Amino acid sequence: MPPSSPPSPSAAGGITSAPADPLAIDANRRRLNRYRFVAQETMRLLAGWLPRVATFELKCEFGRMIWEASLQVEAYYRRLREIQSPAFQDPPDPAFITAIRELSHAPSEMALLLSLRDLIGPQLIKALESHEQATFPNSDFPSVYAIRHALVDLRAQLTRLDALATTAASAGRIDHDAHEWCRYIETLLGGCGGIDGLAPRPLADPITPPPCRTEFTLPTEAARDERFVHRGGASAPRINEEDYANHTTEEFERYATEMLAAETLAVILRVSSALPWDFQRDTARHLYDEVRHCLMGFEWMRRHGRDPFKSPQFLDIFAWRSQFPPVFQYTLLTMGNEVHAFPYRLRRVEAHQQAADALSEQFVRYDIADETQHVRFGHQWLPELLRQSGETRSVADYTAAVLEVWRSEYLTGKYPINVE
Ligand SMILES: [Fe+2]
Ligand SMILES: [Fe+2]
Repeated sequence: MPPSSPPSPSAAGGITSAPADPLAIDANRRRLNRYRFVAQETMRLLAGWLPRVATFELKCEFGRMIWEASLQVEAYYRRLREIQSPAFQDPPDPAFITAIRELSHAPSEMALLLSLRDLIGPQLIKALESHEQATFPNSDFPSVYAIRHALVDLRAQLTRLDALATTAASAGRIDHDAHEWCRYIETLLGGCGGIDGLAPRPLADPITPPPCRTEFTLPTEAARDERFVHRGGASAPRINEEDYANHTTEEFERYATEMLAAETLAVILRVSSALPWDFQRDTARHLYDEVRHCLMGFEWMRRHGRDPFKSPQFLDIFAWRSQFPPVFQYTLLTMGNEVHAFPYRLRRVEAHQQAADALSEQFVRYDIADETQHVRFGHQWLPELLRQSGETRSVADYTAAVLEVWRSEYLTGKYPINVE
């Protein structure tokens, strides 16, 4: 081979050829910073919307997308900190920031779903695909690696969002406002050159929001779709643990309500932009774990011929917690419910082992593994949250005061501890 021939892109030994005009490092970091911004704002957007989304499957999807977006932010952050300082910085493009942050003011969950499926998802994927090819394949491989892994998740998300939107459309649930909203977001994205900022920016008149734009407010109530027929608590007395079969049914019916914990964490995450990134990342995982616990309850009930949509939802718990500041809610959840759930969960593992009920045993043991991390998150982050909130009491004194409220208002027989 003559010495001037470039190596093949698929050559062995990691030798790959650069594109003819490869992306310069400054352009590279500016674009990576835009993807990081989109991923982090997606976490914030979907966290704010999680409690108010009624369609159960969409709510679960948003929970998963929040966690996956946090993994993408983490990957971009790890690369960005090597090529810019500070690693986290808003893109210097007010039109882009507006376009992404406007998504929160969607008029409905279907309008939000459409804007993610038709605009954000496809534009982000297109930008990443082109970036992957445009950059130096060897010198910038850490970026390529992050982009390729993000693409795996984003393409799968788009497929799932498309299925949800198609189902909603065939049920006649996508209205005129949802389409109008998408046109508005499309115009905003066009005004900032798209997600990667590379498209020509039209010199257009100022963009007027459509009448359907609905100013976002933090939810104080949790929504459920019409399939959930019992929104309050259980009216029958709780079933004694000695009644193994019936108590186990109740135990997993309660897992199916753990969306409530995810919804409280979503509110906390939504208002946590000023807190350390590691807290936001851990809270995104904490949140998605509770979605998975809820789905575990759904799976158990369906395997046992029960309809989880008919189980009590205890929605007043979310409303009750919402009256308190975020740090108070975080303490209620981690130092109240989660710390105190272990003796019960360990008894249940033993009961399931004795009954040779392998499925129930496995589910509870996975739950214990997650909950152990949640308590660790609580211990790790509570001091930081209290410091940031200006609280002057010690962590121990503050926790004791919150637990007093938890005991007198939560553990009064009104709400069972194993709801979440
Ligand atoms: Fe849980
Ligand atoms: Fe938990």
